[in-house]
Amino acid sequence: MQASQADPLVYLNAEFKPLSQACISVMDRGFLLGDAVYEVIPVFAGIPFRLEHHLQRLDRSLHAIQIENPLPDKQWGEIIERLLEQYPHQDQSVYLQVTRGVAPARDHVFPRQAVPTVFVMTKPVDPSTLPDPHQGIVAVTLDDIRWDYCNIKATTLLANVLARQQAAEQNAAEAIFIRDGHAIEGAASNLFVVHDKLLITPPKSNKLLPGITRDLVLELCDANSIAYAETEISLETLEQADEIWLTSSVREIVPVIELNGKPVSDAKPGPLWLEIRALYDQYKQKLREQAGGR
Ligand code: PDD
Repeated sequence: MQASQADPLVYLNAEFKPLSQACISVMDRGFLLGDAVYEVIPVFAGIPFRLEHHLQRLDRSLHAIQIENPLPDKQWGEIIERLLEQYPHQDQSVYLQVTRGVAPARDHVFPRQAVPTVFVMTKPVDPSTLPDPHQGIVAVTLDDIRWDYCNIKATTLLANVLARQQAAEQNAAEAIFIRDGHAIEGAASNLFVVHDKLLITPPKSNKLLPGITRDLVLELCDANSIAYAETEISLETLEQADEIWLTSSVREIVPVIELNGKPVSDAKPGPLWLEIRALYDQYKQKLREQAGGR
């Protein structure tokens, strides 16, 4: 069967095949135990955005759960390139996942010789369906009920799923996790606040995912002499913040205009967000130009 827009080509365990034919065993530990890690990589003008950063984080996640990286970076890049060819004129989002593989029996202990399951897919992003970041989003705070290895990009996302669902039921687009009185990150995003004119983001630790978009925001700050601090954000600081932003590969950099039913400042994107967002858009535009205006 031929792949098509409705049934795109995906990569599964060394084969390219239509999504409808990509099957794994029910004994796969990713399915049974959530024993797997993943990455989400945005693609602009045909170029995977910060691919090497995503592959480095994948390598760190794999190392943390004792799975050997099944592919060298060059091969990851080639697989992604081949899948991207399906939508040459659209921005895309690549999803990749590595599980510990299939074991003969369900057992928490690692199987002796499992071969990792490798899955990659891409989907086109229609910009007209994306929310306008200038409108901002609504967020709520929730207790962080996750585990102590949030720096690993594990597919075991039940706490994040439940939090996002709870937020959605309150008409909010994101939940911000609170742990020991401190704001940590969103259910699927990193957190920035502007307080007393200073941009603050929590430092990297086992409590949060080291976001690729977070790193880029800090790089843009460094390059443009914008002061920031990587320090803990108390719930009080979050509630009194002049600006709150969330960052991710899917949402890019988005301002929060309402938190727990209360407006953040005057419920409009703040001046520092406007500055950073413009720098980010310029950075992306340069990338598009380098890609030959595709
Ligand atoms: N999530 N924190 C968490 C818990 C996340 O799940 C994500 C991204 C981020 C932001 O990381 P990055 O800037 O590298 O996308 C922070 C992805 C997009 C997801 O799960 O779909």
